Amino acid sequence: MTKGNFPIEKLKGQQTPFYYYDAALLSKTVETLKASADKYGFLPHYAVKANANEKVLKLIASYGIGADCVSGGEVLAAVKAGFAPEKIVFAGVGKTDWEIEAALDSNIFCFNAESLPELDVINELAGKKGKIANIELRVNPNVDAHTHAKITTGLNENKFGINLENLPATIKYVEGLKNLKFIGLHFHIGSQITDNNTFIPLCEAINKLQGELQAAGVKVENINVGGGLGISYEDPDGNPIPDFEGYMSTISKHLQLLPGQKLHCEPGRSVVAQCGTLITKVTYVKKGTVKQFAIVDAGMTDLIRPALYDAYHKIENITSNAPAEKYDVVGPICESSDVFLKDNEMNGTQRGDLLAIRSAGAYGEIMASRYNLRQLPGAFLSTEL
Ligand code: LLP
Repeated sequence: MTKGNFPIEKLKGQQTPFYYYDAALLSKTVETLKASADKYGFLPHYAVKANANEKVLKLIASYGIGADCVSGGEVLAAVKAGFAPEKIVFAGVGKTDWEIEAALDSNIFCFNAESLPELDVINELAGKKGKIANIELRVNPNVDAHTHAKITTGLNENKFGINLENLPATIKYVEGLKNLKFIGLHFHIGSQITDNNTFIPLCEAINKLQGELQAAGVKVENINVGGGLGISYEDPDGNPIPDFEGYMSTISKHLQLLPGQKLHCEPGRSVVAQCGTLITKVTYVKKGTVKQFAIVDAGMTDLIRPALYDAYHKIENITSNAPAEKYDVVGPICESSDVFLKDNEMNGTQRGDLLAIRSAGAYGEIMASRYNLRQLPGAFLSTEL
């Protein structure tokens, strides 16, 4: 029996909770991303932070796109998975020495740097290895992404990037350091952006900045607009593949590239979210006086997004055909925020049923923890079962 796209009998044989990745959907998503990128001349770097599962990484790397990393661990994992080092960018406000050294040893494309002290350290470590490190400066464009406060990054109050007024001096600073080469600008305003028009103020801010830099005689070879394209958590089956075309056409239309400039982007969530489902088993159904609870064996340790960001993930009972009823779907963790979804209408549920927590491929498995000394969730590609 299969329900929707789920091979129920095969899923039933696995120890829950676990992540189930639809490999065919992931492939189709990356192909669609690539086709739009080729059409509009974007160079995509998959944001490894969204999902660094080895098999997922390998599948994405096999399409030849680049990677965006935010730690030494991610750089090493990306190289191991087969991403070409010359397509790897490395961002992060707090890169430590070993991480910078690992990236230098891996011969990555560039460091997305965010502060003067960081530039000094990259210069010094590159010097010791007799290398020149390519630098893109991360600029804080002070553009509101209109998304959840915890995933907005491009405002002056955020810790990320270099403020616009300090940029010309910072570029001069890079140019004065022997082992660094200034190659471009990096931006990222936030994540889960569902209205493509939100990217227009970013494009306009970049155009304005480019005008000023051009007037000052600064050459910028690369523009990296970061990630941020959102997905439909409400209707994963109706929108399995995000609107890469709309996103890229909006940016192409509003961002005025200068001759010879290359345009990079760093999609994370949009690449992996819809292919991933957290499969969890119902341990107990508990009837309260006003509510009934489906207590499941996954918790906020397996998928923290609802607890951390009040995020909505659609939840379906994939093993029941009984008439729908309302349940609060909750985990077993000793925290009152360990709730996946309140008043969720799903098929009549009993102990042993499997629930599918949808759109969990991004920032799901990778953010799992061992709090309460729980085991980490398992993970399978559909092709493995
Ligand atoms: N580039 C940079 C510099 C970033 O900071 C991020 C995400 C990305 C690219 C990828 O963005 P995406 O395409 O996935 O929106 N844990 C949160 C999301 C945090 C995003 C952090 N930065 C969540 O579960 O919603």
